[in-house]
Amino acid sequence: MTSGASDPLTGASEPVNAPDPVSGRRPGNGSGPALMTVDHLKVLFPIKSGLIIDRTVAHVHAVDDVSFTIGEGETLGVVGESGCGKTTLIRALVRLINSTGGSIKFRETDITKASRRTMQPIRREMQMVFQDPQASLNPRKRIRQILETPLKLRGLSGAEIEAESRRLLERVGMRAEHMGRYPHEFSGGQRQRIGIARALAMNPKLILLDEPVSALDVSIQAQVINLLDELQDELGLSYVFVAHDLSVVRHVSDRIAVMYLGKVMELSPAEELYTKPIHPYTSALLSAIPIPDPEENRRRERTVITGEVPSPIDPPKGCRFASRCARASDICRQVEPQLTEYADGHLAACHHPQHISAGELAGAKRSPLSPVSSGEQMPTLTS
Ligand SMILES: Nc1ncnc2c1ncn2[C@@H]1O[C@H](COP(=O)(O)OP(=O)(O)OP(=O)(O)O)[C@@H](O)[C@H]1O
Ligand code: SF4
Ligand SMILES: [Mg+2]
Repeated sequence: MTSGASDPLTGASEPVNAPDPVSGRRPGNGSGPALMTVDHLKVLFPIKSGLIIDRTVAHVHAVDDVSFTIGEGETLGVVGESGCGKTTLIRALVRLINSTGGSIKFRETDITKASRRTMQPIRREMQMVFQDPQASLNPRKRIRQILETPLKLRGLSGAEIEAESRRLLERVGMRAEHMGRYPHEFSGGQRQRIGIARALAMNPKLILLDEPVSALDVSIQAQVINLLDELQDELGLSYVFVAHDLSVVRHVSDRIAVMYLGKVMELSPAEELYTKPIHPYTSALLSAIPIPDPEENRRRERTVITGEVPSPIDPPKGCRFASRCARASDICRQVEPQLTEYADGHLAACHHPQHISAGELAGAKRSPLSPVSSGEQMPTLTS
């Protein structure tokens, strides 16, 4: 489906990146029109020291040369262990924090250093949904007031606000009577629905979801994920969906980026990441997903990682995963691996890729998304 007419009420266009009628997934190779382009983005947090004069003595490398695009109507899952930079990344994308290097484009506008004035209309198109809806909804405001603020910013008034608030609440599976209640009167899942309604109130194109279901029971997680899926199909939304583990993002993502210590280790169409992980760290994350069937659990290949994540203040110079990787060789400890592009937009930063044949390696090439500091060496296969 191509971009069509706008809905007169919501202003939303028809989805551009329509799902495949058989699989239900959108084309997940990053080839569609880009809504956002992230180019070599860096966020370093200074560490200060000194009693009288504040001196910067080091930096936390929270996001360290990360590049990708987000397509119209696409969901990009972002996964990795605690502290790998997921929240910092999405906060930088919406300009809640400033980046240290690289650039961010929203459609054709470079927003990396855009002024408040330039950002104002763009910020409305990018909304965030947080992990803890309890903390992100003002406990002293009724739901009516929570929804009113973004609707006023959209230029609605009086009866229009009332009608649109009702419509939004009902659209996220709540009842219009809930408008008079306070956030604490709802369950975690209902509060997250309200958080989603508040984000929708701005008519966004892109929603950045920071672990939106991590605090919810598994059955409620599925309901919220289904709601997000429906909204995406209806409104042509793009999502960046952050999660700790790969089980949560599997069914929502078109593509998935796996992060480790501020870097992208693998970026792949979602299903392929599960069936053919190229990076040893991805395999380790997959091994951590519980499988309910004990027989299948016994049969599956497991990659167990040991050891601590190195400090983001002084990250290792070669591959950041080398201290925990069973496949590590000398080159891994010396040279940062480039992001290599294998077939179908499947990228991985590893000197010794898994599940890759000699033929596939022969057709692989360095991706322009590779960090500037990475080496030129092509990967080699180990037995
Ligand atoms: N304001 C800050 N000042 C200094 N360091 C920070 C700041 N915010 C985050 N960090 C550090 O940046 C790194 C990335 O943090 P971030 O919160 O982005 O990780 P995360 O992947 O979202 O983790 P989690 O899964 O626990 O939410 C961590 O080492 C964190 O301690
Ligand atoms: S580059 Fe080396 S250390 Fe890093 S993941 Fe690949 S094999 Fe392991
Ligand atoms: Mg986080």
